[in-house]
Amino acid sequence: MCGIVGYLGPRSPLQILMEGLHRLEYRGYDSAGVALFHQGAIEVRRAQGKLSRLEDLLRGEAFDGRAGIGHTRWATHGRPSDDNAHPHKTGRIAVVHNGIIENYLPLKEELKAKGRVFTSGTDTEVIAHLIDEFLQQGVPFREAVKEALNKIRGSYALGILCEGEPQTVAAARKESPLVIGLGDGEFFIASDTPAVLNYTRDFIFLEDGDIAFITPQGPQLEDLSGRSLAREPQRIHWSPLMAERGGYKHFMLKEIHEQPAAVINTIRGRITEEEGEVILEDFPYQRKGLEEIKRVFLVACGTSWHAALVGAYLTERLSRIPAEVDIGSEFRYRDPLIDEGTLLVAISQSGETADTLAATREARRKGGKTLSICNVLGSSITRETEGVIYTHAGPEIGVASTKAFTSQMAALFLLALHLGRARKIITQEEMRGYIQGLVEIPGLMKRVLEGAGEIERLARKYVHFQDFLYLGRGVSYPIALEGALKLKEISYIHAEGYPAGEMKHGPIALIDEDMPVVVVAPKDHTYEKVLGNIEEVKARDGRIIALATDYDPMIAAKVDEVISVPTVHPLLSPFLTTLPLQLLAYYIADFRGTDIDQPRNLAKSVTVE
Ligand code: M6R
Repeated sequence: MCGIVGYLGPRSPLQILMEGLHRLEYRGYDSAGVALFHQGAIEVRRAQGKLSRLEDLLRGEAFDGRAGIGHTRWATHGRPSDDNAHPHKTGRIAVVHNGIIENYLPLKEELKAKGRVFTSGTDTEVIAHLIDEFLQQGVPFREAVKEALNKIRGSYALGILCEGEPQTVAAARKESPLVIGLGDGEFFIASDTPAVLNYTRDFIFLEDGDIAFITPQGPQLEDLSGRSLAREPQRIHWSPLMAERGGYKHFMLKEIHEQPAAVINTIRGRITEEEGEVILEDFPYQRKGLEEIKRVFLVACGTSWHAALVGAYLTERLSRIPAEVDIGSEFRYRDPLIDEGTLLVAISQSGETADTLAATREARRKGGKTLSICNVLGSSITRETEGVIYTHAGPEIGVASTKAFTSQMAALFLLALHLGRARKIITQEEMRGYIQGLVEIPGLMKRVLEGAGEIERLARKYVHFQDFLYLGRGVSYPIALEGALKLKEISYIHAEGYPAGEMKHGPIALIDEDMPVVVVAPKDHTYEKVLGNIEEVKARDGRIIALATDYDPMIAAKVDEVISVPTVHPLLSPFLTTLPLQLLAYYIADFRGTDIDQPRNLAKSVTVE
């Protein structure tokens, strides 16, 4: 969702804020703004649209203060406009906010009745008014912040400046991420660590209910009742370079090509090839509790939900534990049956997706066991689950998820093997075979990626079609869904993913020469059936792009285009079949000239319901 950055220190706050906002733009990009001290007063500049509009507005300006806050917005309350852009300033207070204030309407009415005039349609503006109202009543700044926060309901990450307090940046968090970066005599706040990685790798991860008052002496943390808090800083190992484009045209293309390394990093240290073992240090039920697990629930949103579908397939096949998948936003509303025999696995790249987080809370509330598979150290979901298997994919900046997906599948493969071996479903010999297969995957992924040029040529041919259908069976069905999602989110082409066997039950009516059908058809136990589906499409003059294994003359004879990937164990095929689909979507979008890293209406992490 929205991105927040703040700075207090001897450098130019404006430069640091703009750099941070560029790095956070992936979180939201319908407007942006900054608030900075100049000659003791707070100056606000904001503009609807991309960050470049704000830069134009700021050209030639200088501010003499040492503190500032900035924001890039993804609209929830109030359409994108200059007036709705953050920071919101009223009286002595300027505020940037990520989250949703649920009771903003009654608060707004209350404040209006006191004569306060609102200039935006946002929920955020009430926070600035509330704090300022307390200041006007003579309450000191710090108390005023706490009083105001005690009145609001909902979620927030906040950065606050106050005229008369030019050496203080206040920050607060509830259900929306916020970190404090610790530099040498300088301090930062940010929604996400990559915003300020150029300056520090030491961070305090604020927890729900934390308020921080940051001064040149450092951050002082309190809770809403004013009790002091101590939070240990953590060092993160992502380098600033990892959050750069590194010569690629888009972050998405860079991240597609980083997938072999992301998978290696995710499995490194967690397998022993000779013994055929999977070691999951952070899986809390290694020694105790594992035998209690009778059912696995995998919950996630978007691309991570597709990984969950693959994960359920792997879990049932390899461990014979019943596995169910649900979408984060559905799970808690169906009053799911959970007890101590249920393991809920929350899958999330960001670790901040509100619906996935709510699902983990629901599982905990009902006494289930909880585990997360996550890419971001210290994120909310990792802190609310009993165990974490981190994917080590490095920062994913492109809004369309790629390397997070393949590394989530790697983590899920390890988990399924671990459960299967612990339950004696797979023998040690079989385990060695699976591990060997997994170890070979990154090399084979590289080979597939070397064929990017061929997929670029194919994309040029198919760039003008308006609708696509993606089909797959078994473990390839989620890959078809993921291929369709990638295409629609970055190229704005309508694309649907379907289990190939479902085609006859409706979608077949759509098939004609204007709707290419992408069929994921590796050689597995569903292969013959998929060949049948290909015939059905061809019989209706459909155009087929097939994803097959090695050279497959049976398929080549029937379809219009074939993309080949190396043959691997059928359970490992998703690691390879995913890549051409990501590239196809990428190149089609690039030919169409869309904003690939920041597609319209989307945000990288969806921290509101
Ligand atoms: O951070 P998460 O993995 O929890 O995010 C889930 C989805 O919002 C995310 O996968 C989204 O669907 C991406 N845009 C897909 O490319």
